[in-house]
Amino acid sequence: MIAQVIASTTDASLVEILSGNERLDAELAFLGTPVHAFRPAEPVRHFVRNNDWSDVKVALFCTYSLHPGKTIRWMREKIERAGGEVIGELTVKGEHPFLPLIARGHPDERDVQKARKFAKEVLRKARG
Ligand SMILES: Cc1cc2nc3c(=O)[nH]c(=O)nc-3n(C[C@H](O)[C@H](O)[C@H](O)COP(=O)(O)O)c2cc1C
Repeated sequence: MIAQVIASTTDASLVEILSGNERLDAELAFLGTPVHAFRPAEPVRHFVRNNDWSDVKVALFCTYSLHPGKTIRWMREKIERAGGEVIGELTVKGEHPFLPLIARGHPDERDVQKARKFAKEVLRKARG
C-alpha cells in the first residue's frame, strides 16, 4: 500500500520484489520492504546484495509493526558500499498479519500523508 502511494505520487513504475533476482534500470529508485526479524524481508536482502547500485539515487522505506530495527541501516550500508546514494529514509507502521493488535489499522491516513510528503521531498532532492 505504501509502495502504491509512493508510485502514484511520483508517477513511478511499481516493481514487486518477489525473488530478489529482479534488475533495476533507473537513476532514482524508491526501495521498500516489510520488516522481518528487524531486517529487510529475504527477497529484498537478496535484491540489495545483487543489484548494481553504482550512481543510483535511492530512497529507502519500510513498514513495521513493533520496531524497524536495523532494516533501513542494513539497506543503506550495502547500497552505499556498492556506489549508490541514499537520499531519503522513511519508516511507516503496518499491521502485523499474525498479531493484529500491534499497529492495528496501520498504515492509516496519517501514514499515507507521511508517505506522500516523503515521496515529494525525495523528488525535489533528486532533481537538485
Ligand atoms: C515473518 C514476519 C516477521 C516480522 N518481523 C517483524 C519485526 O521484527 N519487527 C516489526 O516491527 N515487525 C515485524 N513484522 C511485521 C511486519 O513488518 C508488518 O506486518 C509489515 O508492516 C507488513 O507489511 P506487508 O503488508 O507489506 O507485508 C513481521 C511480520 C512477519 C510476517
